[in-house]
Amino acid sequence: MASSRSSSEESRFTVLAASAVGGILAGGILLGFLILPVVQGRQAGIDPWTAICRSLGIAPGTPAAGSPISTAAARPVSRVSWDEGTLRALAGAAGPSPPEAVAQCAACHGDAGIATDPTFPNLAGQSAAAIFKQLHDYRSGARVNEQMSPVAQGLDEADLAALALHFAARSKGTMDATARADRNHPVAELVLRGDPARGIPACNSCHAPGSGGPIETPILTRQNEAYLADQLRRYARGDRGNDIYGRMRGFSAKLTEDEIRRLAAFYAWTE
Ligand code: HEC
Ligand code: HEC
Repeated sequence: MASSRSSSEESRFTVLAASAVGGILAGGILLGFLILPVVQGRQAGIDPWTAICRSLGIAPGTPAAGSPISTAAARPVSRVSWDEGTLRALAGAAGPSPPEAVAQCAACHGDAGIATDPTFPNLAGQSAAAIFKQLHDYRSGARVNEQMSPVAQGLDEADLAALALHFAARSKGTMDATARADRNHPVAELVLRGDPARGIPACNSCHAPGSGGPIETPILTRQNEAYLADQLRRYARGDRGNDIYGRMRGFSAKLTEDEIRRLAAFYAWTE
């Protein structure tokens, strides 16, 4: 008698314990896979069914946040390849007479590579690799400009290399010493050290001659001030996106308009 009572108590306890565990489990499932996803999903603008599927791992993503929708238009990235043939072509010397295609550049960049309009870039003394890369990008569509794209699209790779060597070998002439920028200009800090707190690298870690920056890094000194400032604004807005690995776009948006103007002036008036 005593033993049967204790065994019935035992089975009651088992039922109680099992239903408690079952209840906790069911509550957990309800909370984790239904209630929380639906509530969080509603706040994130996700419909209940998607939120539940996401919480179960059937649909990708989290039920707590909407998936970012990219509105960026697809655009080709630079297709330049620094292969042996290209490097060898650019390491050569400019031919004795200017390439024929130079006649197509003179109206805007001048016969000798000094631009006819202060908003156009000078090409004289620019590195051959930088000129080649930009012409290649206009040709492939990685960089778009209504004046340059059609010109570059009419040329072949051998023309690009010949033009690059031709303009790289032109002299920039001498600079009016009185117009030279004061080297202690407040922006020199950004040029030499950058601003680590804002994630802005030192410009001269790539742009100074011999700094070891990527081969296509353009020379900025003596470039037209308005052109330099305009390009920084374009990188900042993402209008210009042909910089490999986003090296320029990565930080340009963090520069203030005042810094852009000062940086452009600094480089334009530095020998
Ligand atoms: C109708 C005017 C015009 C003609 C013609 C022209 N260019 Fe340009 N070029 C420009 C302008 C404007 C820019 C800047 C465009 C931009 O912001 O992308 C430019 C940019 C460039 C750049 C990029 C410079 C840099 O520092 O990134 C190169 C290289 C170049 N031109 C080479 C040439 C060559 C070589 C020719 C002749 C085959 C030529 N251009 C013909 C107006 C012209
Ligand atoms: C990691 C190396 C690196 C650093 C640091 C860097 N640049 Fe550049 N910059 C480049 C390269 C590479 C390009 C050419 C990108 C392309 O192919 O379009 C470029 C292009 C530019 C151009 C366009 C020039 C032209 O002729 O079209 C400007 C202006 C410029 N940089 C300014 C700056 C300034 C100002 C800073 C500092 C705040 C800076 N850069 C820091 C590598 C760098």
